[in-house]
Amino acid sequence: MPNLDELPPEVEALRSVPFFEDLTPEDLDRIARIGRRRSFAAGEPVVTKEEVGGGLFVILSGTATVEAGGKQHTLGPGDFFGEMALLAGKPRSATVTASEPVEAMTLEAMYFRPFLIKNPSVAVTLLEGVAERLREVQGRVERTQP
Ligand code: CMP
Repeated sequence: MPNLDELPPEVEALRSVPFFEDLTPEDLDRIARIGRRRSFAAGEPVVTKEEVGGGLFVILSGTATVEAGGKQHTLGPGDFFGEMALLAGKPRSATVTASEPVEAMTLEAMYFRPFLIKNPSVAVTLLEGVAERLREVQGRVERTQP
């Protein structure tokens, strides 16, 4: 088992992301190998509504906005997006735009799905996020109905 104090900087950066906090050093190392770090300039779309394919994004630094369900949501370091298309195998449900320079870890569905099966704690974290987003939109829909 790799020593936690000797993790390469790439893996070290992931350790501080709550989404990955329960992972063992081996799994963090695997994520760092299957993931790709990508940078986006302020104003640049990261994913576009109706786009097909693509994976999960975990924000390492910076902020991005999502226009969804009639509201703008701001996502910051440690937040993830792109899980809906990845899990459902459907086109992107919304456009996510970098509102300041964004550094993100991207995980392709092809690699990430098997990883989720082996790491249920990460799958549960994703589910919690999806449930939270659904509740938030549901709450607003209910409030606007007579
Ligand atoms: P996906 O559909 O793959 O691409 C757009 C992403 O925006 C979506 O996954 C979610 O990660 C994110 N998203 C969609 N709806 C909401 C919402 N109501 N709140 C926060 N993020 C959302």
